[in-house]
Amino acid sequence: MMKDITILAIESSCDETAAAVVVNGRTVLSNVISSQISLHTLYGGVVPEIASRNHVERVIPVVEQALADAGKTLQEIDAVAVTYGPGLVGALLVGVSAAKAIAFAAGKPLIGVHHIEGHVAANFISHPELEPPFGCLVVSGGHTHLIEVEDYGKFEIIGKTADDAAGEAFDKVARAIGLGYPGGPKIDKKAKEGNPDAIQFPKAVVDGSPYDFSFSGLKSAVLNYLNHAEMAHETVNDADLAASFQKAVVNVLVEHSMALCEEKGYKHFAAAGGVASNSTLRESLKNACEKRGIQFYVPAPVLCTDNAAMIGCAGYYEYLKGARSGWDLNAVPNLRLGER
Ligand code: KG4
Ligand code: ZN
Repeated sequence: MMKDITILAIESSCDETAAAVVVNGRTVLSNVISSQISLHTLYGGVVPEIASRNHVERVIPVVEQALADAGKTLQEIDAVAVTYGPGLVGALLVGVSAAKAIAFAAGKPLIGVHHIEGHVAANFISHPELEPPFGCLVVSGGHTHLIEVEDYGKFEIIGKTADDAAGEAFDKVARAIGLGYPGGPKIDKKAKEGNPDAIQFPKAVVDGSPYDFSFSGLKSAVLNYLNHAEMAHETVNDADLAASFQKAVVNVLVEHSMALCEEKGYKHFAAAGGVASNSTLRESLKNACEKRGIQFYVPAPVLCTDNAAMIGCAGYYEYLKGARSGWDLNAVPNLRLGER
């Protein structure tokens, strides 16, 4: 029997300060998330400077809580994993600096983790039987990718958005109809009261690129719809609009995902990232996969949005490969998927 590997993970790339203790990549002993939503709501979106300051205040208490919940001391940890990109530079720097200080003081190795690799890895926590290779739709606030997970930490990018990310489109449309921040969950909720067939919005596709997406045209179509209604002094049914917009986003994500599964013959397909907590997307992907005899995987909603357990999981597979970061590890705000 191999010795258990226990990882303390830290995540601070956007507006959640999070820490977790994860054993052997898939057993989560603790998963502490301190959300800053209430601080940013006033401004209708994440204010980077406020996010950084709040991470500074929260990071140590959150780490202490994660260790206490797990019943572990720092000495019982084998490595410290931390998100070093992509994300807001100031926010990332807080987690990276804290992780370096903790790892250095405790004499433990440091492992820099790619935030999006963390999102994909969240599937390994919710589905202990899942192993690469499989196809995966990654949909977050900054990313929309169709990828093949070839091995742990090894990806082939097959499709991506030409402009806005899916989550960004949710957030912008939510703001336009006055639902505020954070947009995704608010549209998800509002859409339940509306008719998804009330308004026909354009398909978020890129001509000639079957696996790429384009959400900026869809977003503009929603804004145009609102402008026309305002000029004509017509009232807009927000629930119908939310449901119709959500349907347009979900349809293209599901269609492209299934086209890829059919072309590649995948028997296993997963979804990851904050938008993968969307109830309609989860249901539609599940049904579409079932129809084709494909096993569908999606993390529990709390593991879809930003958290540190997913970083602990991705960090574990890096640890096994012998990947170690130096004390010069820096935040890389534009780190691309597949880049180290
Ligand atoms: O993965 P994530 O937590 O952070 C990033 O790495 O970006 O994703 C955040 C994004 C936001 O755009 C948020 O509006 C969206 O995920 N989101 C949702 C839902 N929950 C979060 N979008 C649609 N439906 C949801 N239920
Ligand atoms: Zn994220």
